[in-house]
Amino acid sequence: MLKTILIAAALSAGATGAMAAAGAEGGAMIPQGARLAATCAACHGTNGASIGTALPPLAGQPKQALAAALHDFKSGKRQATIMTQIAKGYTDQQIEQLATWFAAQKP
Ligand code: HEC
Repeated sequence: MLKTILIAAALSAGATGAMAAAGAEGGAMIPQGARLAATCAACHGTNGASIGTALPPLAGQPKQALAAALHDFKSGKRQATIMTQIAKGYTDQQIEQLATWFAAQKP
C-alpha cells in the first residue's frame, strides 16, 4: 500500500512539474492554495477527492481540522508515515492556504 503510494508519487512528479509550468503561464488566475495543492494530488487525488484510495478525502473537510492535522504532522504530535516529512516543507501561512483551499473543494 505504502509502496504503491510512493510509486504513484514518483510517477506523477513529472505531471506536477507540467502543472506548475501551466500555472506560471496562467498567472494570477490560479489561487495560491491551488498551486500548493497540486503537490498533494498524487496521493490525495485531484482536488483532494481521494476516491477509491485508502486515504481519507481532504476535499470538504473543515478548514480547522485540515490545518490542525498539518500542524500536528509538522510538529510530530501526530504520528504519520509520510505526512511528517511533507508537512515540514510548508510555512504556517502555506498550511493556512492549503487548508482553506481543500476545505472549499467538493468531496
Ligand atoms: C506521497 C503521498 C502523499 C502526499 C504527496 C501527500 N500526502 Fe497527505 N497523507 C498521506 C498519507 C499516507 C496520509 C496518512 C498519514 C500518514 O501515514 O502519513 C496522509 C494524511 C493526510 C492528512 C490527514 C487526513 C485525515 O483526515 O486524517 C492531511 C490533512 C494531509 N495528508 C494533507 C496533505 C497535503 C495538504 C498535502 C500536500 C501539501 C499532502 N497531504 C500530500 C500521503 C501523502
